[in-house]
Amino acid sequence: MDQYIIKGGNPLVGEVEIAGAKNAALAILAAAIMTDDTILIENLPDVRDINVLLEAISEIGAKVDRIDRSTVRINGSTIQDISVDYEYIKKIRASYYLLGALLGKYKKAEVPLPGGCNIGSRPIDQHLKGFRALGAQVDIINGAIVAKADQLHGSHIFLDMVSVGATINIMMAASMAPGRTIIENAAREPHVVDVANLLNCMGANIKGAGTDVIRIKGVEKLHGTEYSIIPDQIEAGTFMFAAAATKGDVMVKNVIPKHLEATTAKLEEIGCEVEEFDDAVRVVASKRLRRTHVKTLPYPGYPTDMQPQIAVTLALAQGTSIVTESIFENRFKYADELARMGANIKVEGNTAIIDGVPKLSGARVSAPDLRAGAALVIAGLAAEGITIVDDIVYIQRGYENFEEKLRSLGAEIERVSSEKEIQKFKLRVG
Ligand code: UD1
Repeated sequence: MDQYIIKGGNPLVGEVEIAGAKNAALAILAAAIMTDDTILIENLPDVRDINVLLEAISEIGAKVDRIDRSTVRINGSTIQDISVDYEYIKKIRASYYLLGALLGKYKKAEVPLPGGCNIGSRPIDQHLKGFRALGAQVDIINGAIVAKADQLHGSHIFLDMVSVGATINIMMAASMAPGRTIIENAAREPHVVDVANLLNCMGANIKGAGTDVIRIKGVEKLHGTEYSIIPDQIEAGTFMFAAAATKGDVMVKNVIPKHLEATTAKLEEIGCEVEEFDDAVRVVASKRLRRTHVKTLPYPGYPTDMQPQIAVTLALAQGTSIVTESIFENRFKYADELARMGANIKVEGNTAIIDGVPKLSGARVSAPDLRAGAALVIAGLAAEGITIVDDIVYIQRGYENFEEKLRSLGAEIERVSSEKEIQKFKLRVG
């Protein structure tokens, strides 16, 4: 099992290039099978979740041609199977996007019901409510969601809560449902807009993506196009906090600064300098940072996917901070790990109370999920001494070349898989 070994203490300094957005890419790959023409997708991140979804897509019969690391050509004309294997949904929940895509195109789909996951219970009732409103019959049979319709039709759908997944899944199916669909209380995340833009390039008629009311006029057919995925705001934010926590100076390139505003605002509030350029942001932290309060919210609020990263940074800031998680109930699993590094963090319900300490010290910790794993790496980079992060398979799900990018900023981090390699690293860093 791979681990990261880190010798902390180096401020991160330099430039880093951000990959395409994983969460946008997952939905975009699913949407790409909705036409029989070829779709060329650029700026695809080379991360585990994406590679698993590409396998799932090729397994149901689509042609998947990986031209290079960040470019793929997909042709959905050869799909013979509308049933997705449990193997894939087990590995990535977001393969449920194939439900909306297949239902829209073929009026039937069969996708195993995703189980719970390590950030909490994640129901998909709003997705199913949307499909039913569009005229599909949706049943759970032998652990799978089976959705079918003789014909879909437009509908007026009010989401009970803001859900990225439900908004995108319903938007995909509705784009091929005759008539008009209105999704109210829609998620406004940048990747909702990105998927709408792709579908519109494919001939769909979607208006209002990026606001809380999305209006869709169903079309009969979608066609081929070329599309480049937006930069990953969570990967970018992770590097911004890595710069802050290590008192570094990092230029984060290939980003859309507008998408990072909630992160930028918090970094400025705690004492970092953030300079915005057209497609880059520079984060400089020259002194000890200050406390703050933060609550996760749907976009444009502070993202839940950036919650562990800010908490780790606040663990080293002056004063008492309160971090409130309002999206997922089980997103503080890293707190005990962070405490093992000397942080003063106490979790009560959906709130973490953090009394900043002047320094953390290296320890052996385990990544409980993707973003918390990345946050523990940040903690290791900022800590004194050696940190070993176990279970980095979670981190590899969503960060392309994570350790290489960190090393290019001066971090001492290595991916290792044996005691011998750990000893070698320790000898090298002294
Ligand atoms: C997406 C992101 C994930 C991010 C999350 C919130 C992808 C692949 N994943 O997840 O990284 O953390 O948005 O920004 O894009 N809910 C229901 N019923 C539903 C759907 C959602 O109760 O049918 C609840 C969820 O349990 C959660 C909240 O709504 O409490 C938001 O979830 P949602 O926005 O759907 O998250 P995902 O799309 O799964």
